[in-house]
Amino acid sequence: VTVPEGYEWDVLVRWGQPMWSGVADVDQATGGTAETQAKSFGDNTDGMAVFSKGDHQILAVNNEYIQNKVLLKDREDGKAINVADVQKMKNAHGISILEIEEGANGWAPVLDSEFNRRITIDTPMELTGPVAGHELVKTSADPEGKTVLGTWNNCGNGETPWGTYLTCEENFNGYFGSSDENQELPAELKRYGIKTSSRYGFEKFDARFDLSKDINEPNRHGYIVEIDATDPTSTPKKRTALGRFKHENAEVVLASDGRVVVYMGDDERGEFLYRFVSDNAYVEGGDTDNLLTEGQLYVAKFNDDLTGEWLALTPETTGMTKEEICIHTRVAASAVGATTMDRPEWVAVNPLRVEAYCALTNNKNRGLKPNAGGDETPVGGPNPREANNFGQIVRWRPEGGEHTDDGFTWDLYVLAGNPELYPEGPLAGSDNINAGNMFNSPDGMVFDSKGLLWIQTDGNYSNEGDFAGQGNNQMLIGDPATGEIVRFLTGPQNCEVTGLCFSLDRRTAFVGIQHPAA
Ligand code: FEO
Ligand code: CA
Ligand code: CA
Ligand code: CA
Repeated sequence: VTVPEGYEWDVLVRWGQPMWSGVADVDQATGGTAETQAKSFGDNTDGMAVFSKGDHQILAVNNEYIQNKVLLKDREDGKAINVADVQKMKNAHGISILEIEEGANGWAPVLDSEFNRRITIDTPMELTGPVAGHELVKTSADPEGKTVLGTWNNCGNGETPWGTYLTCEENFNGYFGSSDENQELPAELKRYGIKTSSRYGFEKFDARFDLSKDINEPNRHGYIVEIDATDPTSTPKKRTALGRFKHENAEVVLASDGRVVVYMGDDERGEFLYRFVSDNAYVEGGDTDNLLTEGQLYVAKFNDDLTGEWLALTPETTGMTKEEICIHTRVAASAVGATTMDRPEWVAVNPLRVEAYCALTNNKNRGLKPNAGGDETPVGGPNPREANNFGQIVRWRPEGGEHTDDGFTWDLYVLAGNPELYPEGPLAGSDNINAGNMFNSPDGMVFDSKGLLWIQTDGNYSNEGDFAGQGNNQMLIGDPATGEIVRFLTGPQNCEVTGLCFSLDRRTAFVGIQHPAA
């Protein structure tokens, strides 16, 4: 990791590091066991946030997915051969919640802290909101459709004003498969990329992941989960009112009337950007349990004239029931003619003015192929480049100065590019890109309290061809007031830079380095 002069870096916690005493450190020859993994920091760090309780600082971290060949080093091609292997894979996923403290040697996790907790693919959670109890989420193990096991592929995150953690289920589809390879799957499942062949092979050892046994299990995943990270006995709650898609992060902001606005991207080529507005207002110290269960979901439409609007997803506009909208959200958004985007990743709200930013990471299909629902992906608006492999950041300002407004104006904050290779034309990038700050594939984005935008990348790190001079994945800082963008941190080879939060004294930034050299 490279940081500027005057800054230092150190490792806070790594995959396989025990969170409780008496647990063996990871065995690099085998990747450890299901038992050691259940009590250690998970794999592939992503979104995270710091919470406080009394004098304690508690870090919640997403463990997005796994490197099969690293975790199952003792298995050919990293393929599970038994139930114990699958259990180890499950235990490396989810969320690691750990107390951290700063001592003489810097920051470290607190072993055995009462706050330490692992949430995995098997942790019971409550399904809340419109979808709870619906026919489409009932399974043989849960005939009431209200209690779900686990969360996985947790990518970005969010924080609520009432101090809870939001973790976002992204590529949940790759965990399902079928023992019947000829099984015909419903179009609604195919829209989410669910196939009879899985990426991890869970279905061979756990019937819950076998589509021929339980066709409704996938409908119970792809949501945002709310967790009280300061209470290790709390039950995580899946918030179905926020829709079901490949959630990147959840950026929460309060309107001046106290209603809760959540901005959310669906990270897939040609999918959409969403907004949720709560029915009720947040009152400090009041009941917060209904704020993310009752409200209206919207999807963004961008016009070429730099205006746009939030389209409400309702039974009237979509021809679907409220419950179906929350389960088959992509289908609902297609029905209202939302704008197909270049893979919406994190959204970040500027604390100094009423505006929001979304990283559109890249989209090799732009202008060439429709999305999985058959919606066209024309070049134009906030997606101005055919076969876009550099990405851009779009921002919008609500027309009346409130995030609850339905109209907005928009522009591009930055169009990534390579001005060294392409001095002119669409691949040059915008004027605020130069030889010293070139990057591709913006992904994580967080505003700090001073209004600077931290931008992390998850892109091509070959440093060759179109990407020559862009180097490894990195973290940059942008000043929206001036447009200036500077590179701050460069990650090691092969990593993705993911997740960012700050210590309570704001002197330390915690940064995720995902799959270095893997
Ligand atoms: Fe897990 Fe869209 O990144
Ligand atoms: Ca990401
Ligand atoms: Ca990404
Ligand atoms: Ca990743």
